Amino acid sequence: MTHENHHHAMTDGGSGAGYDGRAAADRMIERVRRTADEVGERFPLYADPATGVWTTTRRGSWTGGFWAGLLRLTAARTGDPADRARATATTRRLRERAADDTDTRGMTFWYGAARGTLPGEPAEAAETAETVREGAAALAAARRPDGSGGEYIPLGSALGHGERGTTTLGVDAAAAVISLLARAGRTHGEPGWEKLAEAHATAVLTHCVTPDGTVLATARPGDPAPAGPAHPGWPRGHAWGMAALTTAARSLRSPAPVFLEAARRTTDVWLERTGGTVPPWSFDDPTGPRDTSAGAIAAETMLRLADTLDGPDAVRYRRAAHRLIARLVEDHLGRPGPAEGAPPAGALRDGCYDMATGTAVAHELIWGDYFLLAALLRPAPTG
Ligand code: GLY
Repeated sequence: MTHENHHHAMTDGGSGAGYDGRAAADRMIERVRRTADEVGERFPLYADPATGVWTTTRRGSWTGGFWAGLLRLTAARTGDPADRARATATTRRLRERAADDTDTRGMTFWYGAARGTLPGEPAEAAETAETVREGAAALAAARRPDGSGGEYIPLGSALGHGERGTTTLGVDAAAAVISLLARAGRTHGEPGWEKLAEAHATAVLTHCVTPDGTVLATARPGDPAPAGPAHPGWPRGHAWGMAALTTAARSLRSPAPVFLEAARRTTDVWLERTGGTVPPWSFDDPTGPRDTSAGAIAAETMLRLADTLDGPDAVRYRRAAHRLIARLVEDHLGRPGPAEGAPPAGALRDGCYDMATGTAVAHELIWGDYFLLAALLRPAPTG
């Protein structure tokens, strides 16, 4: 990446979208530091939009990697030894998660350990590499046949999925699963993991992406029984699918053109359905609560997709990304000096975690923060 690209990424990509990316990133980083002081050794999951107080988990649920990832983005940006120490300590606490039977180990070990590098952490680098190896090895061991000659990593039985999770393919963690297995396979000399990354990406493309570019959040490969509700109207699932296909196009050696075409197709459907703005929690409820976290995943993904392309298409997706980031920053990111009852500075509010159970439907979500900060700081993280 050239200096010029970096400069543009920090403003608005030259798109005229009109936001100050540097100031927004700085605000978010201050929020990350305050959150770290507040949560101690626990993992933040979602925060009250008015008070900014976090609901936390002890082990990180499916989102521990996003918290470690936010600390890693912060440390890489500031170079501050205290930020680095917190990031490495949090990555270390993820290690025990290798034993959990869940495809979200991909998220835990990709965003929380493998993605990006922390300058000046020679002592910790080997430990982080070993964490990545353990996470990838455990994830790879969960592989199963998809019934048509391929293989995939199922949701797994943890996180409440039970037996059914062991034969279900989910799109949410797929980008991370593919990235982690491809990267760790290359770094640790395990070509079988790279092949598995490709097989998983192929399974997602085969079972979770329709010819018209709709993403199905889950599928049951090789199961003749009906798939059940797959949430084709769920914008966040659609964004996770775009991320998976874009990652496949960027990080697999072959057959990348198939994935690139599908990444573009699903992204075009996203832009059509959302009009390029922050989506509602469901495509079927256009005036319902927004889900900024879906917008942040899509925006960061479109920047990565643009970087994979040349010419007018690269410009088109990059502009769409910056327009969406502008909306997130201008309309949903807390500003300094808030009035009473206003969200805290640097908090991305208006995320919708789970409408079905009424959980955190208008809140700051840790993964929404992660993807917005990653987008604002691009090209710092790779993959
Ligand atoms: N299960 C991941 C999500 O809610 O997006």
